[in-house]
Amino acid sequence: MPDAIPVGHRLTPDAPGVSLPLRLLPRHTAIIAGSGSGKTVLLRRLVEEAALAGLPAIVIDPNNDLSRLGDRWPERPQGFSPDDDRKAALYAERVEVVVWTPGVHAGNPLFLSVLPDFAELGEDRDERQQAIEMAAETLGPLAGAKTNLQRGVLADSLRRFAERGGGNLAAFMDLLADLPDGISQIGNAAKLGHGMADQLHAAVATNPLLKVEGTVLDPRHLFFGTDPARTRISVINLSGLASEAAREDFVNRLQMTLFGWIKKNPSPRGMLYVVDEAQTFLPAQKASPSLGSGIKLVAQGRKYGLGMIVATQVPRGIHNQVVSNCTTQFLGRQSAPATIAAAQEILAANGGAAADIGKLGAGEFYFATEGSGRPAKLRTPLCLSYHPANPPTPEEVIRQAKRSIEAGTRARAS
Ligand SMILES: Nc1ncnc2c1ncn2[C@@H]1O[C@H](COP(=O)(O)OP(=O)(O)OP(=O)(O)O)[C@@H](O)[C@H]1O
Ligand SMILES: [Mg+2]
Repeated sequence: MPDAIPVGHRLTPDAPGVSLPLRLLPRHTAIIAGSGSGKTVLLRRLVEEAALAGLPAIVIDPNNDLSRLGDRWPERPQGFSPDDDRKAALYAERVEVVVWTPGVHAGNPLFLSVLPDFAELGEDRDERQQAIEMAAETLGPLAGAKTNLQRGVLADSLRRFAERGGGNLAAFMDLLADLPDGISQIGNAAKLGHGMADQLHAAVATNPLLKVEGTVLDPRHLFFGTDPARTRISVINLSGLASEAAREDFVNRLQMTLFGWIKKNPSPRGMLYVVDEAQTFLPAQKASPSLGSGIKLVAQGRKYGLGMIVATQVPRGIHNQVVSNCTTQFLGRQSAPATIAAAQEILAANGGAAADIGKLGAGEFYFATEGSGRPAKLRTPLCLSYHPANPPTPEEVIRQAKRSIEAGTRARAS
């Protein structure tokens, strides 16, 4: 098994290939480049190469195009090298892509708990506190917690709930509806708790994603199938989640679930969590339900071997606490003066200059990582799986997801 993945070639003739050591993946990667500059192609190739090196991945698919990660190119792309041919064949054989469609029963639905798995958490006080904070951020809006008093009662109740070993949302609503004495110092806590429990019941009645009908998924099944010879890539397609709020809520829950799970299941070799269009889920300029859990995952992931890859069009589109944690950065073409200047500033901070950032071609990126020296310009390779100009429709994604199920019970939670 390789200990590095190739990321491209320098643009000078006969230049040697450049590679990224696998050990740097858990220190996270950012891909920042304007529309049509080759971000998704690069992100795919990184995921594909990592899978060939035995690293599984969870990939968030907001635009449907990543659900083709398991499809072969119908015709050999121009620009494929003999090495690409060999790898594409190997990829088809050794890598298993499962497409999940949260919110779509006709596809391959995926159910996640609203609450972190408190039972999985160890005794570390900071970690417990972070899990309680994440749960409070998720439940607050659903419970109609608007005042500090309400939020305080919610946090106190979650703390007690976690101490008791946790449980599902129904169990938490029971506790909140009928708070025992001594859980909170806040006057009126019982009444406030009761009101929030009612709000939660109303939220469950109106939000289909909160009604858990399937088995709540163990993240293990997102990373590992039953065939140890095949590396799994789980594509989580968001087209079944109609609103931005539903998507952010879902991604938040996924991140919370992962956060709890990796602590019990660290991976020495590594695994990936990949977010395309990351400005939506980890935004710099606004609040988002998925931001808090994303930042915690970025900060803690590396300890447990979880590497994040985030891609976005706009420099400064992703929250600074995420980008500043990305040891590896790819910067590609920008076209507006403001974004050109912002990308150049990021490169300058790494000791680089890029007068031509506005003129780069698709698949040309400035690359820097630990120990690489000044950012250097690379031509990145095409992806091994099918990436046509237009993404599939939601109906095609559903067919794709069904094929994941039919491809064997491997796809299901078993
Ligand atoms: N490494 C590459 N080599 C050759 N062509 C490439 C490469 N990367 C991308 N392209 C070409 O550019 C097109 C756009 O690439 P891609 O879909 O990755 O862009 P993007 O940055 O993700 O765009 P968007 O912001 O719209 O999502 C591809 O369909 C392909 O034709
Ligand atoms: Mg894209």
